[in-house]
Amino acid sequence: MERAIELINVSKSYPGVTALSDVTFSVKKGSVHGFLGPNGAGKSTTMNIITGLIPPSGGTVKVFGEDVLEHPEKTKRRIGFLPEHAPLYGTMKVEEYLKFVQAINSLRSTVTHDDFDETLELCGLKDVSHRLIKNLSKGYRQRVAIAQALIGRPDIVILDEPTVGLDPTAIVEIRELIYSLREKHTILLSTHILHEVNLICDHITIINRGRIMNSGPIHELQSGSEETQLIQAEVMSWRDEIKPILFRDLPLEDLHVQTKDDFTKLTFKLKGKDDYRAWISDILVKQNCQLLGLTKQTVDVENLFKNATEEEGKGRFQ
Ligand SMILES: Nc1ncnc2c1ncn2[C@@H]1O[C@H](COP(=O)(O)OP(=O)(O)OP(=O)(O)O)[C@@H](O)[C@H]1O
Ligand SMILES: [Mg+2]
Repeated sequence: MERAIELINVSKSYPGVTALSDVTFSVKKGSVHGFLGPNGAGKSTTMNIITGLIPPSGGTVKVFGEDVLEHPEKTKRRIGFLPEHAPLYGTMKVEEYLKFVQAINSLRSTVTHDDFDETLELCGLKDVSHRLIKNLSKGYRQRVAIAQALIGRPDIVILDEPTVGLDPTAIVEIRELIYSLREKHTILLSTHILHEVNLICDHITIINRGRIMNSGPIHELQSGSEETQLIQAEVMSWRDEIKPILFRDLPLEDLHVQTKDDFTKLTFKLKGKDDYRAWISDILVKQNCQLLGLTKQTVDVENLFKNATEEEGKGRFQ
């Protein structure tokens, strides 16, 4: 696998805070890599280190095999970055601003006029190129922020929470824009929206409290976790004596019981790939439980995240 980005045992401490501990993962060339974690997990810190904005306290970061501390100019030239708080100048017109970015970004000075037009076109900014940035909607301002990351056609585009704070229509548009970038760029994007990763990413790294919980191609992580499955049942007339029977007759790893009024919600965590719904239904009915519903949860990113962070404590997710 050709690695566009590689982090090896990267750590970062701020006074009194360990933001990253032993962070190791890589981003495959040509992939759309989702970097997922709750608030304060260390996503922005990691991205700022990859882009060379802040130094790590320890460890190594490589961009296309070159150490970012040893070759900062060379590696920076290959990265376009949308930071968490993109510095947009409201009193500038869109085109003016992007030309300004191009001019100050002498590291990526190889931009031709065609590149510039193409970027405006790609980001849907042609029609607003002569408008003041401050008069644009948030969605359009975000397009401008993404456009500044694309100026100069960097091989890698790093986007820190590109859809945060946008309305649902703008979110869909920005996701489509990001998706369209995958042909020409390696993309690393952070988000705390779980299903966003499912929609646009092919690889994923989950970070929580500064530690990497899981990393790899989504389909591999998902098939790896097929060994456990979650089934939810809603029943009436639940009795605690049924619990040991379920543990005796099923390959149960865990059972979560939540009773409210006459209704009980059971969450079964089971080992194996077989569909145990018929078994569960059989046992419950024999125990005179009224079964109201039974659903098997497919293992998705949300479950991956839950599995990864269960012992680590939780973060806030949307
Ligand atoms: N400049 C700083 N000084 C001190 N602590 C910091 C600084 N920047 C970040 N931190 C701390 O480092 C940890 C990781 O923060 P970071 O901003 O990287 O997380 P994040 O995953 O990007 O979170 P969010 O989803 O809120 O953007 C947090 O505990 C944060 O408070
Ligand atoms: Mg952040």
